[in-house]
Amino acid sequence: MCGIVAYSGKNEAFPILINGLKKLEYRGYDSAGIGTVNGSVHLHKREGKVNDLVSYCAGKNTSGKIGLGHTRWATHGCANNQNAHPHQSQSKRLTLVHNGIIENYEALKEMLTFHDFNFESDTDSEVLVQLVEWYQIRYKLSTRVALGRALQDVQGSYAVVLHDTSVKYQLLAARSESPLVIGLGEEGHFVSSDSMTFDHSAKSIIYLEEKVIAELHQNEEPAFYTLDDITIDQDILPFDYRKVAVSKGDFESYTLKEIFEQKLSVSRTLNGFSNYNSEELSKVLDDVDRIIITACGTSCHSGIVAEYLIEKYAHLNVEVEYASEMRYKCHTLGKRDLVIGISQSGETADTKMALEIAKSKGVKTLAIVNGVNSSIARIADQVIYLKAGIEIGVASTKAFTSQLSAILMLTVLIAKTKNTLTQERLDEMIFELKKLPAYVSKTLAVSEKIARRVAYHIADAQSALYLGRGLSFPIAIEGALKLKEISYIHAEGYPSGEMKHGPIALVEEDLPVIAIVNNDESAAKIISNIQEVKARKAMVIVVKNEDVELPRNIADHVINVPAVPSYLNPIIQSIPLQLLAYYTAKLKGCNIDQPRNLAKSVTVE
Ligand code: M6R
Repeated sequence: MCGIVAYSGKNEAFPILINGLKKLEYRGYDSAGIGTVNGSVHLHKREGKVNDLVSYCAGKNTSGKIGLGHTRWATHGCANNQNAHPHQSQSKRLTLVHNGIIENYEALKEMLTFHDFNFESDTDSEVLVQLVEWYQIRYKLSTRVALGRALQDVQGSYAVVLHDTSVKYQLLAARSESPLVIGLGEEGHFVSSDSMTFDHSAKSIIYLEEKVIAELHQNEEPAFYTLDDITIDQDILPFDYRKVAVSKGDFESYTLKEIFEQKLSVSRTLNGFSNYNSEELSKVLDDVDRIIITACGTSCHSGIVAEYLIEKYAHLNVEVEYASEMRYKCHTLGKRDLVIGISQSGETADTKMALEIAKSKGVKTLAIVNGVNSSIARIADQVIYLKAGIEIGVASTKAFTSQLSAILMLTVLIAKTKNTLTQERLDEMIFELKKLPAYVSKTLAVSEKIARRVAYHIADAQSALYLGRGLSFPIAIEGALKLKEISYIHAEGYPSGEMKHGPIALVEEDLPVIAIVNNDESAAKIISNIQEVKARKAMVIVVKNEDVELPRNIADHVINVPAVPSYLNPIIQSIPLQLLAYYTAKLKGCNIDQPRNLAKSVTVE
């Protein structure tokens, strides 16, 4: 989704902003723009990538020690130079960047058009900057007060940074339901969608609260106001640049680095959970009769794994809802329910909204998130942090296996609280969980070469089917999502028993069918489902534990993973599927870290 970076300080803004925008590329975008201020505003906007913007700016005036930058993920109006941010007010006095959606922009635009305001773009964001100017002119208000008034008229979500050329070196920033953080340093102040764009000079951070306007002046302490212009305080926390600095290291992409980092990320999640004060959570779980898990995309697939695990080991009813559908299915939520929101970014608007709905009904909430201090972490009553480290690749890999690791720990905790497993069995599961990082490491080592080889057989396919049963069903749908996200090959995941009820009509000679076979009671059944597709001449690729015996000639390619207890399989089996999608996408020459049309953190509903 859109990314914001703004700076006011002692240094030239342009290189700082470009560097920041490059770091925000992971969020997904289709145009970029920049405005630096040196007396007047030098505005440069381009459809395409940040590098296209940089080339376009060569030889142009980009001077100034204050500036605003933006990467836009198109919502209202297509991706073109005009719709790219920053946007300016009619008089060109105000310059603004915005992330979010102004739902009532049409009504506001109509009112402004009636008052002779003209628009240069199709965006909802331009409406906001014009509205601020309208307030300034009509009521003779200061920029800050006019911004507060305009934001009170807005329905929807926003993170905005505004500069008024008549107020030297001042930046105004505000947010509601979209992320925005402020970095303070001796050399200047930063405003951004993500603290990873701050440089080493930033020494403190402010996670701006909802509907608060921050007023920043170069070299001055910031001041904060409500939208009604009443002074308020915000927490100013220490910031350590080293903790958010990321690099690809020796890897060709962030995604590959993150796949290979999983030994470490899984172990961080497990250690983090062990140190977590689980007593309070146990108390909550004690009263719970039903768990509703809500999430989107890959995080929702983690939720389905949780459904299988918690029902099996803790005998508790679990339902999984797409967060975007939750509001239509929340009628029976009650006091003995626990709603768990799972999110890598912690900023996904649908998941956030689903948790808010649950809270409004007085239901207990728990968040499993990676994004520290993220919106979802702040909403939920309790938080389990994944501690997987920043995930830059748009396709989630290490965050997924960390979610699964946290879910396994949670399953053990619920089973203990509900007394559904003997102490011996609980100890055994914990013992195996401790070995998980080593299993992950071994899986990476044994499956990379073969996944890379099998990718050659998939790269030209139009479509692929992924089949699983029991615990491997959610891994099949996640495997299919990974392939379609990064290689653009159409792929679907099904419970293998469902094949005969429709999808088998798609099976034809050489269709890649990726079947995931668990070393548990589901093995025999999925093997007979594989026979059914093989009989129709599909190209069968089996991912299985090494202790599973396959009938002869049933598979064209086999990827073996270590023989682990079946509850660890979702993590172990995901790894070859990530690698398969990765190398297929690589053969197709796709931009794996930033797949087309996708955003890392989906901050609009
Ligand atoms: O940050 P979240 O986990 O809430 O994001 C949810 C989905 O948008 C995300 O998992 C998406 O499906 C990824 N692109 C998956 O690779």
